[in-house]
Amino acid sequence: MIVTVINQKGGVGKTTTAVNLAYILSRNKNVGLIDMDPEGGTTTSFGLKREKKEIPLGGKSVNIFNVELFPSHLGLLKMELNGDVEEVTNSLKNIAKSFDLLVIDTPPNLGTLALASMIAADKILSPVTPQPLAMEAAKNLDSRLQSLEKKAMAFTNMSAKPIEINLQSVNFLKISVPQSKIFIEASRLGVPASRYEEIRMKKPKLIRFYEELSKAILE
Ligand SMILES: Nc1ncnc2c1ncn2[C@@H]1O[C@H](COP(=O)(O)OP(=O)(O)OP(=O)(O)O)[C@@H](O)[C@H]1O
Ligand SMILES: [Mg+2]
Repeated sequence: MIVTVINQKGGVGKTTTAVNLAYILSRNKNVGLIDMDPEGGTTTSFGLKREKKEIPLGGKSVNIFNVELFPSHLGLLKMELNGDVEEVTNSLKNIAKSFDLLVIDTPPNLGTLALASMIAADKILSPVTPQPLAMEAAKNLDSRLQSLEKKAMAFTNMSAKPIEINLQSVNFLKISVPQSKIFIEASRLGVPASRYEEIRMKKPKLIRFYEELSKAILE
């Protein structure tokens, strides 16, 4: 199954979601996580560096904390500019065959890489923050999904109160991940926040949100 995390707005928590979701899902599933963002947020969240060379999609992976991570690399930029959506979609579907779940982190746009990641997806998950521009992005995603005849689940990030917007193809879950400094601390150390909580905290606060999201995805 392919789970694509998407929102064309930058900084809303796509990478944070992909990384923590993959980490939590890997407790009892065989999970791959592919960084489709040339900026490489997911790659650095697992303490790795972006590859400075071009690698074919799915050509290199590293197992970290039980997640098979496909790092970002130079070739993604070329693929974004000159790539063929159908070819990228097929490559993603091929990579997914080796896993129970393949989680995809996408860049903040609706270009070739994000589009192919949406088309390949069995489930689409969109973090939305309660700022006007992020809500506008959710509406744009809704129209794009309608034209692709796809549906997405959205949830609220960086707020205690769940957002409710009525959209045709985006269903807002009643899940909201609050603001937390733990995300910043964990990303400074290059580990997923859920991992950081497991190791460092007696009473984890954030893990349950990713468990809820995992449940919604697997339903
Ligand atoms: N609930 C939260 N509370 C506090 N900080 C958060 C939360 N979610 C994410 N962050 C932080 O916000 C920043 C942006 O998050 P993230 O990188 O996941 O967004 P993104 O949508 O992937 O951004 P981009 O579009 O640039 O790839 C990061 O520093 C991350 O640690
Ligand atoms: Mg990101």
